[in-house]
Amino acid sequence: PLLAMEQEYAIRQKLGSLHGIPLFQSFIEGWPQVKAFQARPDDLLISTYPKSGTTWLSEIMDMIYHDGNVEKCQRDAIYNRVPFLEMKVSKGLSGIEQLEKAPSPRLIKTHLPVQLLPTSFWEQKCKIIYMARNPKDVVISYYFFHQMAKIHPDPGTKAEFLENFMAGKVAYGSWYDHVRGWWEEKQEKKILYLFYEDMKKDPRQEVQKILQFLGKELAEGTVERILHHTSFQEMKKNPAANYETMVPTLMDHSLSPFLRKGISGDWKNHFTVAQNEHFNQHYQEHMAGSDLYFEMEV
Ligand code: A3P
Repeated sequence: PLLAMEQEYAIRQKLGSLHGIPLFQSFIEGWPQVKAFQARPDDLLISTYPKSGTTWLSEIMDMIYHDGNVEKCQRDAIYNRVPFLEMKVSKGLSGIEQLEKAPSPRLIKTHLPVQLLPTSFWEQKCKIIYMARNPKDVVISYYFFHQMAKIHPDPGTKAEFLENFMAGKVAYGSWYDHVRGWWEEKQEKKILYLFYEDMKKDPRQEVQKILQFLGKELAEGTVERILHHTSFQEMKKNPAANYETMVPTLMDHSLSPFLRKGISGDWKNHFTVAQNEHFNQHYQEHMAGSDLYFEMEV
């Protein structure tokens, strides 16, 4: 449990800079340990820009690792079942400490941009699954998350937050650099690159892609159970998946629930016409020359 003083210290942090990437001061303090992290060959890394479906993919992976056994996947909260590599909010609470104690095979979550991934993941040739989501839905999801997850700076107004997001002045920096960086790395490495929008459209097909990537086969009934258990409705009411067990000083679900809407295209309820035009132009400039393509709604 966190001491009151530690909780306070972790709240509404000012962002520092980690090799040019805006990040929480407390995470930066833990960076030497993260950089030196020793990956094991059978680690599987789940990598995302924040708000891109990390928790959804994590729950799917834990279910696959436990052959669709729902009870086993309720053994602990998702943030303990899939430790967050670079997370550090106090002396006693860090991803590195959790991971050192975790038995293999480990599932590990990160939001690090590709150039900052600890080198042992490459040396050990770990399997990596990256999930990307269209930036319009990411920025809206991130805005509401800033309100409820108090580790972040105050987001200000929606318009201000949109500007900061486009400028890469939010935790983990530029969405463009993140998705493009991992996309380019994928050409040579063992990376499965998935999209939130595809998962929304056809989760069965995406789970099959994951199984193929893992070289694992599951009975049809098991896949069915995984799809049901990881649906938005099921996860929203599952205390092991919905973050409701997190200390309320760090996450206040009364401001916005962690599983908020779970759809593609919610940005349309929030962007003004002018903001959308501005965003589209900015998007085109920053995605120029890339063959990475996003669906903005499904
Ligand atoms: P919204 O805020 O748009 O609802 P992350 O886990 O990377 O922080 O991403 C959180 C986003 O994923 C939230 O988006 C959340 O609702 C959505 N999400 C979580 N579980 C989901 C599921 N089973 N199906 C669809 N979306 C899900």
